[in-house]
Amino acid sequence: SRSAIGAAMIDKGNYRHFMAKEIHEQPEVIGHTLSRYLDLAARKAKVPDGMAVDFSGLTRLVMSACGTAYYAGLVGKYWFEKYARLPVEIDIASEFRYRELPVNPGEMALFISQSGETADTLASLRYCKAAGLTIGAVVNVPESTIAREADLVFPTIAGPEIGVASTKAFTCQLSVLASLAILAGRQRGVLTADQEAELVGALSEAPGLALKALALEARIEKLAPGLSRASDVLYLGRSTSYPLALEGALKLKELSYIHAEGYAAGELKHGPIALIDENLPVIVIAPHDAIYEKTVSNMQEVAARGGRILLITDEKGAEASGLADRDRILMPALSEIVAPIIYSIPIQLIAYHVAVFMGTDVDQPRNLAKSVTVE
Ligand code: AGP
Repeated sequence: SRSAIGAAMIDKGNYRHFMAKEIHEQPEVIGHTLSRYLDLAARKAKVPDGMAVDFSGLTRLVMSACGTAYYAGLVGKYWFEKYARLPVEIDIASEFRYRELPVNPGEMALFISQSGETADTLASLRYCKAAGLTIGAVVNVPESTIAREADLVFPTIAGPEIGVASTKAFTCQLSVLASLAILAGRQRGVLTADQEAELVGALSEAPGLALKALALEARIEKLAPGLSRASDVLYLGRSTSYPLALEGALKLKELSYIHAEGYAAGELKHGPIALIDENLPVIVIAPHDAIYEKTVSNMQEVAARGGRILLITDEKGAEASGLADRDRILMPALSEIVAPIIYSIPIQLIAYHVAVFMGTDVDQPRNLAKSVTVE
């Protein structure tokens, strides 16, 4: 039962921190979550029993969240637009709640929140509810305020997340959003049965791939001392790796207190490249996908200016990069749709081990609360 699962997850077990335990729970909880949203026998996406959602008539999906949950939404935007041709308007909730976005009753609003209690996200939900939109919520606490006020609840089955820095909730949010985007793709006549089956098959590999990504921990731990000496770190990514660059920077900032910034790789030459020198580590998130070459050329611009690169990629990407082994983290080869879920793991581990090396309070970083229930 949930309470039994919950109770089992409240202690650290043999982990040093709740965050470490929660990072390592990801293969299991991603599996639990996907089992609610994928019908593997039929090779179709679905929603949890009893929930009916129809994306077919929507003209637009409005999304809002905060922090890490917002970055999950940013990834979801790429997926809804690519696989379901559904336009997405997304904004951080603290801006959304005051900008008076014109919305129409024919639209759906989807709010993402681990705690389901974040004040800005709740306020944004209420704005959309007052305007007559159908309200969906991706939450990790089904009895939370946001869940109670939503019309449609899409639970993440991550179990209680104790570490203030969100990890397993994030990858479970991504798992839910990927499944919903595939479902929307079918309902909107964008995905054929074969395309849906292929995407569902790829998504169902996530738990095993997450386990492989966790096997990189020892390799990543060795990078911590070098990164801990940086005063600034730049994360770069493109397409669905761009929100991961933002998330990676947030993780490092909130855990190790080192200033970090996530940037769209293609934006480097529009300013940030002026920052590049041998003291600025640049972490590049780039699975070998259709746009990999573009990101590699950005990366070579960094290398040409003496920048220190750490490339998170796969075998094919590593070969094409021309970088030495010490400057690469080799991920398993995987399909495009699972990349953001699986590449979250090395960026979580980087932030965790730098923080542990620096001796900060990993589970309760200074000035932070697990749920920001006030403005
Ligand atoms: C995540 O590492 C942060 N601690 C924080 O940004 C968090 O994601 C944000 O406050 C949103 O919280 P929620 O998902 O509970 O709404």
